[in-house]
Amino acid sequence: MIVLGIETSCDETAAAVILGDDTKGHDGGGKILSDVVLSQIEIHRPFGGIVPEVAARAHLEAADRVVQQAMDQAGLQFNQLDAVAATGGPGLIGGVIVGVMTAKAIAAAHTIPFLAINHLEGHALTARLTNQVAFPYLLLLVSGGHTQLLIVHGVGHYTRLGTTIDDAVGEAFDKSAKILGLGYPGGPPLEAAAHKGDPTRFKLPRPLRGKPGCHFSFSGLKAAVKRAVDDLPPGPLLDRDVFDMAASFQAAVADVIGERTARAMVEFRRQCPTANTLVVAGGVAANTALRNRLSHVAADHDMTLAAPPLKLCTDNGAMIAWAGIEHLRLGHQDGLDFAPRPRWPLDPDAAKAHGAGVKA
Ligand code: KG4
Ligand code: ZN
Repeated sequence: MIVLGIETSCDETAAAVILGDDTKGHDGGGKILSDVVLSQIEIHRPFGGIVPEVAARAHLEAADRVVQQAMDQAGLQFNQLDAVAATGGPGLIGGVIVGVMTAKAIAAAHTIPFLAINHLEGHALTARLTNQVAFPYLLLLVSGGHTQLLIVHGVGHYTRLGTTIDDAVGEAFDKSAKILGLGYPGGPPLEAAAHKGDPTRFKLPRPLRGKPGCHFSFSGLKAAVKRAVDDLPPGPLLDRDVFDMAASFQAAVADVIGERTARAMVEFRRQCPTANTLVVAGGVAANTALRNRLSHVAADHDMTLAAPPLKLCTDNGAMIAWAGIEHLRLGHQDGLDFAPRPRWPLDPDAAKAHGAGVKA
């Protein structure tokens, strides 16, 4: 089974081709034949963040070329594909429309099935491609737009245990890095600065730590970074201050995520007593300090941590192609009348998480 996947929901124009390996049964396994990711970071950097209209235009300019590169690298013609999958949401709608229309055109021209994939499901299922993790497993999804703890029961079947009531953790990294003058996107430079700093120097809060449930909150942490910077002596920030603040921030994030994930493990065990895998996905999963903390928390709960390779943690086409294969194996496909979904929760039945000041 060979599927082309297209991802355009944020600031990467990406396409990949995957060959599903059916000798490994239905617990994952597949070969990445090509994986092309064109980042728009340089286009957005002057703005200090992603500008949706600029992103949509850049996707439109690049999508055909990126798809053709993915096909060429795989050494395939479109008529050799079994299906074409594209991110159908959630995400920046202009970009999603570009990817969906590109995929629909390929499907129509070559009479192959079209699949609209939930971007979050793409992240959620990647560990089955890379680590052949069996259902069910506990998923921590940490990206620029999302911070969620989910039980992955099967394809299309999720229970959300926790989500952020305000900022996503990647957003907190990006905003704190901006306060520290570390540039955009902030995760990688903040992590590098944290390596050189003292995590105990600044006393930053651990929002929601120890509170019932598994929700997250990060806006207070970012505000505390701003206050602590404002309290420093006037003048430009010294390197030492930046390093110590980055280390203190990263330690607070690891503490909070470690504690919230430990709570989720207890609930996961209650619902799925024999399962024992924690999967971490999303761009922030690239953070080594966070990965180390999670592997300790997992070991404490007799669980193992499965983390896809860094390249497949951030947005890419392979995760969309893989989710396409998982759906195709179950006989699913979408109509060419599919309308992109800017909002598309993995667990539509999850209770609404209330914002700051309201009981979550
Ligand atoms: O999953 P992703 O590529 O895009 C979406 O948000 O969907 O995640 C991007 C986020 C950004 O906020 C970026 O700053 C963060 O992941 N990130 C990191 C690291 N690398 C990327 N955060 C912390 N440490 C890192 N090493
Ligand atoms: Zn993503």
